[in-house]
Amino acid sequence: FDLNRLAQLQHKLWFGSAADIPGTGETTDTAYLKLLKSNFGEVTPANAMKFMYTEPEQNVFNFTEGDQFLEVAESFGAKVRCHNLVWVSQLSDFVTSQNWTAEALTAVMKNHIFKTVQHFGRRCYSWDVVNEALNSDGSFSSSVWYDTIGDEYFYLAYHYAQQALAEIGANNVKLYYNDYGIENPGTKATAVLQLVKDLRARGIRIDGIGLESHFIVGETPSLADQLATKQSYINADLDVAVTELDVRFSAAPFYTAAAQQQQAQDYYTSVTSCVRAGPRCIGVTVWDFDDAYSWVPGAFAGQGGACLFNDTLDAKPAYYAVAQALERG
Ligand code: G3I
Repeated sequence: FDLNRLAQLQHKLWFGSAADIPGTGETTDTAYLKLLKSNFGEVTPANAMKFMYTEPEQNVFNFTEGDQFLEVAESFGAKVRCHNLVWVSQLSDFVTSQNWTAEALTAVMKNHIFKTVQHFGRRCYSWDVVNEALNSDGSFSSSVWYDTIGDEYFYLAYHYAQQALAEIGANNVKLYYNDYGIENPGTKATAVLQLVKDLRARGIRIDGIGLESHFIVGETPSLADQLATKQSYINADLDVAVTELDVRFSAAPFYTAAAQQQQAQDYYTSVTSCVRAGPRCIGVTVWDFDDAYSWVPGAFAGQGGACLFNDTLDAKPAYYAVAQALERG
């Protein structure tokens, strides 16, 4: 199949993948690249545009990796969800290693947002402006940004991104909030809706919510819950995207027939929830499509098997289940 073609033909949504290009591995793996180019109509840089790579030292910018990523994406006509501007992780040492005043750190954030957003410009379909800012109880989580600037950092980040885009006439680049644990109804999902209201009350633009959707086999939220949550964002006049879908096993074995069937069902549920949510669920992105390059084993010892293809690039039942979900809806 070509998953993206199915998604486009049937529902005008995209099917995408994260890729760690130009990192080691994917960049020169021709079998991987062939699959990437033949199945995915959107790509998200797993690392290339993050703070520590784009601004390694204060006001010294390096957009080489991001530009290389965009070149690869553009070579096969894929859209790019640019990821991300303000996050607690993968920051440069200069940000985390000093005691800032709120004013000085706000200036750092503003400069980073302006330079990065204006450099990549319209080549980005969207930006994850703030990434993973909330605890599960809906409060802001601790980060150098929140601890130094307070709540205002969140609103200012969107304000600066909006301004930066306006200055270069790129108002069509969408502004997203991206997080995990907001795929089913609950305190955190409700808190996101409140933040959207607060932004808009200040006259600041936000266009969409990215639902990461890092799930565990057998523990994926139900279709009803995933659909209801997407609809609650859409009802608030937001686009939604599934941005980092994967369904991992919390323990081996990863490849038994029964395990694979449950995983296929979980992928099917998540993709179907986007299809059924209608045109404002604009796409589904998996957080890499093969087990060889998945982030999971590096982050959770003993866990894995999370992707649509195994580590020798053979399609799993989950791959066919996604195709079915895109065909049927
Ligand atoms: O760049 C260094 C390299 O110099 C060094 O040789 C190598 C040795 O380990 O490490 C490299 O850095 C790694 C980086 O990926 C680039 O490959 C880091 O150790 C590693 O921690 C980092 O992991 C990334 C992770 O975010 C960091 O939090 C994953 O690739 C990336 O897939 C993952 O993506 C996040 C999203 O951005 C946000 N949502 C959750 C998602 C999964 O954690």
